[in-house]
Amino acid sequence: MIKQRTIDKVFDTIRIEEVVGDFVDLKKRGTSLIGLCPFHNEKTPSFNVSIGKGIYKCFGCGEGGHAVDFVMKHEKYSYPEAIRYLAKKYNIEVEEEEQSEEQQLVHDRRESLYIVTNWAAELFQKTLWDTDEGKAIGLSYFRERGYRDDIIKKFELGYSPESWDYLYQHAKAEGFDDEYLSNTGLIIQKEGGKTYDRFRGRVMFPIHNMTGRTLGFGGRTLKTDKKVPKYVNSPESDIYHKSAVLYGLYFAKKAISTADTCYLVEGYADVLSMHQAGIENVVASSGTSLTTEQIKLIGRFTSNVTMLYDGDAAGIKASLRGTDMLLKEGLNVKILLFPEGNDPDSYIQKHGPKSFEEYVSQNQHDFISFKTQVLLDEAGDDPIKRAGVIREIVESIALIPDPIKASLFIRNCSVKLDIEERILITELNKIKLQQSRKRPSTKSEIPEEPTESQSALINGEATPDSPPSINANDLQEKEIIRLLLQYGEQPATWLENDNYPIAVLILSSLQDIEFSHPESKKILDIYIDFVNKQDLPENRYFITHPDKKISSLAVSLLSTPYTLSPNWNDDKRQIYVKQETDNLKDAVVRAIFRMKRRKIDERIQQVREEMKQESDPDNMSILLHKYQKLKEVEKETLDFLGTVISR
Ligand code: GTP
Ligand code: MN
Repeated sequence: MIKQRTIDKVFDTIRIEEVVGDFVDLKKRGTSLIGLCPFHNEKTPSFNVSIGKGIYKCFGCGEGGHAVDFVMKHEKYSYPEAIRYLAKKYNIEVEEEEQSEEQQLVHDRRESLYIVTNWAAELFQKTLWDTDEGKAIGLSYFRERGYRDDIIKKFELGYSPESWDYLYQHAKAEGFDDEYLSNTGLIIQKEGGKTYDRFRGRVMFPIHNMTGRTLGFGGRTLKTDKKVPKYVNSPESDIYHKSAVLYGLYFAKKAISTADTCYLVEGYADVLSMHQAGIENVVASSGTSLTTEQIKLIGRFTSNVTMLYDGDAAGIKASLRGTDMLLKEGLNVKILLFPEGNDPDSYIQKHGPKSFEEYVSQNQHDFISFKTQVLLDEAGDDPIKRAGVIREIVESIALIPDPIKASLFIRNCSVKLDIEERILITELNKIKLQQSRKRPSTKSEIPEEPTESQSALINGEATPDSPPSINANDLQEKEIIRLLLQYGEQPATWLENDNYPIAVLILSSLQDIEFSHPESKKILDIYIDFVNKQDLPENRYFITHPDKKISSLAVSLLSTPYTLSPNWNDDKRQIYVKQETDNLKDAVVRAIFRMKRRKIDERIQQVREEMKQESDPDNMSILLHKYQKLKEVEKETLDFLGTVISR
């Protein structure tokens, strides 16, 4: 542990412009420095460094923070790693916290397990390269499979000879304790105290943690005997937790982050072959289903995952099964199938790296369309089966935490399934409701509508000219309508793949919200009707609307900007308009989230009231739980506002 004193010193010493300046070419502009953002692709600089405030902020992608954040994000460092890096840069001595005896023991023990495991990795490697058996059997096997020496070396592949105590004898000669050898699973201890090596006559794949230390092994047999298990793996140990490790991540992390995609394959062999073909953003699940922890690991580097599977029936099944977890963690999932009987390894060996890359780039499908197609093919014309398909697809979509993304998928599916979007949305809402009843603690869930809207008065955030008698709800609803009218047809350029019209984005984000201001609601409903018919209304439609209230609202909203107070002069108005059109994402996302936040606030108020009146302790604890849940959602929403929106 680094002493707080050191951390303080680092914070006192570092200068944001120097830290960032090591990685980004910064130019002075006004009171701040500006450069090309290292966190997303851009041609015109929107990455700002404020020397005075000691922070950086990208107005393009929203990334921002202080100097330590920058180093963590840019170099993929943990907090202590970033502190150490900066301490080194500024010649600050790193003082370590003294550990208690017990802490020291635990630390020493883990350290010993690491040492033993890494020693074993070296032994297996030496055996592969320097012994007759290793060369004749292990090395020649790898070479025959087509792996280049540099790849064999990079992945530290090794060989364990056909012997009951090869490793054990070497370990004893080194003076290693039996306890460490057996906890790491390198040896197996029989009841009578007899020991033997776990890995015998196998080629060895070391499994690394994120910093490149070996935690355990996979050992592949070279026998074709079906009774011998193809792979023997290290057991769980105090340093090796299978559910939290992905094979190849150490070698892949930079590439994943640069490519902003991670390929997920099944086997060790696939990882090696893809590296050899020059595709390094790849990790293997090692034949088991993914865990949340593993997905979170990937999520540190990218939110895009492409799963590569064998295109046989089993592979297709596996791909459908394997993805729910990924969707739930908010990752964008694509599927790529290889011709039946092929995995990435065999495809590359057969067709070469060039055609592999072509194949990969041409055959990816987003998960939802893929699943839709597979299930539809299966269902054929059977109407009952088709209904089942709809349900299954919508169930998958319901797992996606981001409502905007989810509604875009709903839209796609409505086309694919030839079903009205509204029906799918209803189905989605039903499923979401069931989910929230089943798992009341699901994260990032927007709470249900309040039964009646309470008239929260305008707070500091409200628009400047609104008379205080208007309630915040009406204001927010009008603000949304204003954005629809003014910018609805423009593409939401900040969505990476598809430039959906801003109107579609707004409508899909607000599906779970009922408007209460009557004219706003009417205009909104008209929009929904148009959008459902793949169309957008023209402003003239509202300005000339027979309902006088609607037309006058439309006119007043369209005379930009609605939020002006009467004493603003024309210059100010122009600046305001320019700011808004320059950063539409800001305006739109802000409006959507404000509205969502207020809905949450209303719910919180409501629960508070209920809590005041509740005397039954069981009910009280349910309410308390609800309350905490809402507070969490509130915090998430606020955090989101804080990061997505430049202030
Ligand atoms: P090759 O057959 O050499 O191409 O190996 P592979 O890595 O492609 O293996 P395969 O596609 O058969 O299996 C995928 C992954 O599942 C492997 O990399 C292993 O992690 C795991 N696996 C396969 N067979 C076994 C086994 O018998 N036992 C265990 N524990 N894991 C296995
Ligand atoms: Mn294989």
